[in-house]
Amino acid sequence: MKRNSKLLTGALAIIMTLMLFTGMAAAATTLQDGEYTIDAKAVNSSNGTPSMADTYIQKPVKLQVEGSKINVLLTMAESDIMTDLAAPDSTGSYIAAEIVADNKAANEKTYKFSVAGIDEPVTLEVVVAAMGRTVNFNLEFDKATLVSTTQKPAAESPSASTPIANPKTGDNGLNAGMAVVGLAAIASAITYIVYKK
Ligand code: HEM
Repeated sequence: MKRNSKLLTGALAIIMTLMLFTGMAAAATTLQDGEYTIDAKAVNSSNGTPSMADTYIQKPVKLQVEGSKINVLLTMAESDIMTDLAAPDSTGSYIAAEIVADNKAANEKTYKFSVAGIDEPVTLEVVVAAMGRTVNFNLEFDKATLVSTTQKPAAESPSASTPIANPKTGDNGLNAGMAVVGLAAIASAITYIVYKK
């Protein structure tokens, strides 16, 4: 009986840990279809300090969300020095970001690439002419600065841009969190009863 209790306790501990992880995953930011701006910074991918690329990135960057796809529109200054921006696809292979604007007079290029989400940084690659090679840096999004810029009919929204105080759409994160806490409490109670016996 003692051995069975130990097994059951172990199993419940594993279940609780899994529930915690599931709850954390459910709290990931989901975005409704539309356009947004968000502050982002380039950081050194190996030590987290500001990247040499940071000063060349125009802030905020733009996001275009359609279905489950999040496209980032990122404008880079000195586009003759930093070229060929590439981003990972869903399999992790690097593919050239699409150039959607090329302002030769300002020496700026706007690149478009998709990201899996805005919770985690994305590692981008760029060719630096001054260095004669490809380097990478992490682009980190500052979720607190997310602003919707989707134009709505005038009657619905008088202002063109609406700050998103809480970028989570729906309250899935909170509900999932409460469910996890509830289930964890039940699991703990069962564990306690089993131990007592
Ligand atoms: C417009 C000019 C330049 C840009 C945009 C640039 C960009 C970068 C980036 C993005 C990195 C990766 C580390 C990080 O995120 O900071 C890097 C690393 C580095 N850069 Fe540059 N760089 C430039 C010019 C130079 C020059 C002129 C030199 C030296 C001749 C240089 C030497 C290095 C070295 C030694 C590293 C570290 C090694 C490495 O990460 O591969 N960079 N640079």
